[in-house]
Amino acid sequence: MADVSESAVAEARRSETPGATGAGPAAGAAGAPLLALLNVEVLYAEVILALKGVSLQVAPGGCVALLGANGAGKSTTLKAISGVIESDDGRVSGGSIAFGGLPIHGHDTASVVRGGLVHVMEGRRVLPHMTVEQNLIIGGHMFPRAAQMRRALDGVYQAIPRLADLRTRTAGYLSGGEQQMLVIGRAIMAEPKLMLIDEPSLGLAPRMIEEVFAVLHRLRAQGLALLIVEQNTRVALEIADYGYVMEGGRIVLEGRADELRANEDVREFYLGLDREGGRKSFREVKHYRRRKRWLG
Ligand SMILES: Nc1ncnc2c1ncn2[C@@H]1O[C@H](COP(=O)(O)OP(=O)(O)OP(=O)(O)O)[C@@H](O)[C@H]1O
Ligand SMILES: [Mg+2]
Repeated sequence: MADVSESAVAEARRSETPGATGAGPAAGAAGAPLLALLNVEVLYAEVILALKGVSLQVAPGGCVALLGANGAGKSTTLKAISGVIESDDGRVSGGSIAFGGLPIHGHDTASVVRGGLVHVMEGRRVLPHMTVEQNLIIGGHMFPRAAQMRRALDGVYQAIPRLADLRTRTAGYLSGGEQQMLVIGRAIMAEPKLMLIDEPSLGLAPRMIEEVFAVLHRLRAQGLALLIVEQNTRVALEIADYGYVMEGGRIVLEGRADELRANEDVREFYLGLDREGGRKSFREVKHYRRRKRWLG
């Protein structure tokens, strides 16, 4: 790894901030991470090695951003964690994934969800002909009693008031931002400890991105841990306390969110800011690809 990443990590390790004390973001006072990936490899169709040894951690109640360009392996990482990878003809071919201290790789997605981990996939897959509330009820299918279901629904409406206003509306007619809130709402019906969420801002207008991230902030405040995949690095590093940057199936940079925001390469390439803080176009920062050294 290059000097920039080493300095970011070293600084994180020096810091006394809980969660950045030497074992990445999870090493808080309580110690054990909620989620821990160690040297995870993923093979698609037995030939394409999409992850080449990914290690990352999420602390209980923590918020981690997973960043990187197209094809870096971000979605694959989330799919490997939730087990969805199996339905994409992929498999975890090396390393380990532990949730709450127990290995989960190779487990089916349903049992992983029951254990408290949900995966909000890219693309906002709502059931378009059903109402908002019917979509939520499907997320709470594991509740045997009506009272439990009602309590979970009330919890969702409290966390995402917009969904309460939309409860009788047909999901397929909602705006992109409203559908994003619906899939988040459906995921928290399962009362998870950790939510993996893939590109929640994709294709949304800035005002809607703000609203969706306000929901995520609220869920964080309620103690939900988040692992967020984003191409919108700015919003991701605002909510996250720790971040990882992926490239070519590997983690190439990691550090506390404030350090990544301040990191010159991240600022130029992912945030599009120059040294004076002005916006840059991607064309202007393309030289970054030639200049960057962290792949060494
Ligand atoms: N089902 C699949 N079969 C074969 N290869 C795949 C499959 N899904 C993804 N890949 C490959 O794995 C690599 C990582 O893909 P992945 O979707 O994880 O990237 P990503 O970082 O999420 O990118 P994006 O920002 O475009 O969503 C890419 O080279 C991609 O082509
Ligand atoms: Mg992706």
